[in-house]
Amino acid sequence: MKPFIEITKILAQQSLKFSVGLKTFNPCFFGESCEGACPKREKVKLDWKNLGFGYAVTDYNCRAFFKNGKWSEPTIFPDETINLSIAAQFIHYGQNIFEGIKVFEQKNGDITAFRPIENAKRFIQSAKACEMVPVPEELFMKTLDKVVQLNHRWVPPYGSGASLYVRPFQMGVEPLMGVKPSLQYTFIILVTPVGAYFKSGFKPGKFAVADDLDRAAPFGLGKVKAAANYVSGLRGTVRAKHDGYNEIIYLDCVQRKYIEESGPANFIAITKDNKYVTPKSSSILTSITNMSLREIAEKDFGMTVEERPISVDELADFEEVGACGTAAIISPIHSITYKDKVFTYGSPDKAGPKLTQLYNHIRAIQLGEAEDKYNWNYKFNI
Ligand SMILES: Cc1ncc(COP(=O)(O)O)c(C=O)c1O
Repeated sequence: MKPFIEITKILAQQSLKFSVGLKTFNPCFFGESCEGACPKREKVKLDWKNLGFGYAVTDYNCRAFFKNGKWSEPTIFPDETINLSIAAQFIHYGQNIFEGIKVFEQKNGDITAFRPIENAKRFIQSAKACEMVPVPEELFMKTLDKVVQLNHRWVPPYGSGASLYVRPFQMGVEPLMGVKPSLQYTFIILVTPVGAYFKSGFKPGKFAVADDLDRAAPFGLGKVKAAANYVSGLRGTVRAKHDGYNEIIYLDCVQRKYIEESGPANFIAITKDNKYVTPKSSSILTSITNMSLREIAEKDFGMTVEERPISVDELADFEEVGACGTAAIISPIHSITYKDKVFTYGSPDKAGPKLTQLYNHIRAIQLGEAEDKYNWNYKFNI
C-alpha cells in the first residue's frame, strides 16, 4: 500500500497531463526536483489593469496534513476542491483560521511578498487561540515558496497595480460530534490574482460607527485571524453597504466609547500636531500593515506614534483618518457618521498629505521603487 502522500503525487501528476497549457512544464514535488528555482514560464494572458478582487482558479494549491501527531510534507494539488467528512470539526464548531499576503512583481522583475514571516507568526497565534495545532513557521514558508514558484505566471506584471493574493488557511478536519479540538488538520495555501485596490486614484471613503454591533470581545478572538470574526462582522458590512457607507467602525463592547477597528482593517489617524495614533485594544487584529506604517511614520517621517485607547470623542480633533490593511495599505476616510454627527476630514476627492505620503512610501517599498531598508520584502527563488 502506497503512503497517502505518494498516492496524492501520482494523482496530481496524472491530472497534470490533462491540464491545458502545461504540457511543457515538468511538475516538481517537495523533496524532489524543485528545491531551487522553478522554470520561468510566460505569464497568463489577463486584463491585469481591470482585475477585481475575485477568485480565479490558478494552476496549483499546496497542502499539508496533520495526522497521528505530525505534519506531512507539503504536497502540490492541481485540483481546487477538497474532500471532507461531513462531520469535520470546522464545519460545525469553527476551527478555521486564515491569512492574507500580497505578492508583487517589482520594478527589476523580482517576485516578492511583503513581510510573510509576520503572517506565519500570526498564523501560529491564531491557531493557539483556537486550540489548533499550529503550522510551524518553516512549513508555512516552505509551502508559500512552492505555491508562488509554481504559480508565478499568475503574478501580475509590474506597473499593472495588481498583485497575487495569497490565502493560507487551516481547518480542523477530524470527524467529530462532541465539541472539542480536532486531532487532524488540513493546511492549504491558494493564490489568485487581484486587481489594484484604488483603480480611480487614492480616494477617501464614507464610514459609519456602529454602536449596536460588536465584532469581537476583549478576551475573545478579535486579536487573531479566526474565520469566526469575519462572520460576526458581516452584519456590519452588509448594513454599511446598504446605508451607502464603505465600512463600519466598531466601538469597544464594554464601554461603547473607544474606537476598535473597521470590518477588515485597523483604524489610524493623524493629529493636528503630526502624531500617528492608532487604537490599543485586546480585541483588534494585530495588523502587519499598521506595524509597518508605525515604523515608517516614526523612523522615516519623524512623527510621534501613539498606540492607545482612542475615544470616539476625539474624532472631532483629527486632521486625517484612515483604515489600514494588506488589501489597500491605507483606505483614506473622508467622513465618519456617529449617531447624529458627521465628522469630515479634508476633501472628499483627495486623501490628506500625511496618509498619502505613508501610503506612497509603503507601496514604493513593495514594488522595489524605494530602498527596502528594513528588509521587509521576501524574495522568491524564480
Ligand atoms: C479585522 C482586520 N483588521 C486589520 C487587518 C489588517 O491586517 P494586515 O495589515 O495584517 O493585513 C485585517 C486584514 O487582514 C483584518 O481582517
